[in-house]
Amino acid sequence: MNDLAPATVNAARHAPAPPLAMLMELTHRCPLKCPYCSNPLAMDRARDEMSTETWKRVISEAAALGALQGHFSGGEPMVRDDLVELVRHAHREGLYTNLITSAVLLDKRRMDELAEAGLDHVQISFQGSETALADHIAGLRHAHVKKLAAARLVRGAGLALTVNAVMHRRNLHQLPAMLDLAVEAGAQRIEVAHVQYYGWALKNRAALIPTRAQLDEATRIVEVARQKLEGVLNIDYVVPDYYASRPKACMGGWARRFFNVTPSGKVLPCHAAETIGHLHFDTVQEKSLAEIWAHSEAFNVYRGTEWMPEPCKGCDRAEIDWGGCRCQALALTGDAAATDPACGLSPHHAMMKELAVAESAAGAEDFAYRMIS
Ligand code: SF4
Ligand code: FES
Repeated sequence: MNDLAPATVNAARHAPAPPLAMLMELTHRCPLKCPYCSNPLAMDRARDEMSTETWKRVISEAAALGALQGHFSGGEPMVRDDLVELVRHAHREGLYTNLITSAVLLDKRRMDELAEAGLDHVQISFQGSETALADHIAGLRHAHVKKLAAARLVRGAGLALTVNAVMHRRNLHQLPAMLDLAVEAGAQRIEVAHVQYYGWALKNRAALIPTRAQLDEATRIVEVARQKLEGVLNIDYVVPDYYASRPKACMGGWARRFFNVTPSGKVLPCHAAETIGHLHFDTVQEKSLAEIWAHSEAFNVYRGTEWMPEPCKGCDRAEIDWGGCRCQALALTGDAAATDPACGLSPHHAMMKELAVAESAAGAEDFAYRMIS
């Protein structure tokens, strides 16, 4: 592919706007084994994780670059002993701090320490509305009851709480109960997020992808709940691309608003970017965040609209969805620069829909659980 040069030249002429947020994957270690995890299939080991001091430097650089939010994620960020210290540092640097967690390691002492350090918000993932199925999907016994207890700790500490409800063929029948769970937990927001098929979820797509009927029913339930729970619970709703007619603006557009830093320090435009094998990703161990954000080839290659092929080029949605998702384009068409096949104008769109219908009807059951040693 020879499309690197024009985009790089373009970006050199126009300095990019500052990012909105940095997602810090502090570790890929996690007690859970969710089969839709967005971590890569080849995960970073504990010995490859960056030190506390390096993470603090990265946080300071992100704040200096203009980022407003720092999201602490993983894997499970609470397996890091320095999480409180890193949250305190991010708070002092003026970042809005969010902890994205499975919550199974959250106890009262750590909750109090995190709140005292300046944590603003906690996002807890739930795998279902009741113990048996939720624990089965998480691949960990007693996970569900620990999450419920942790949600109470978050609200008890006075922090904002979002329930992250990851939905798929195996748990969609529990959606009404998931909404009740979020209200009872005192959450301000629930993200009803149908699985997006990258990383482990792509590997497990046949066991996870919903039927069209399930999706339509979920959409109806969300619409009714939005009216009933107005002023009580904000409901974000993310539909699976495989049944969409236009793509989502993945990450708000490549290298426009967000970036990820991996446990070992690679800086990525999105969590699945490493699947695009021909790209080289710079690391904060060798370059500053400012340099990477503005000049990294991997950030500039799909930034903006100049790289776009037909039918995106000239499309009136080009600066709305930014051509969709590069990783999905690669996974389904073999070309990361292709129009996202979730778009009805893509020549690959029919193939994507047929795939969803066939796999959801086949009803595969077995999960390949994520594993890290
Ligand atoms: Fe978006 Fe490209 Fe489809 Fe237009 S053609 S709607 S820009 S993905
Ligand atoms: Fe990489 Fe969408 S996940 S661009």
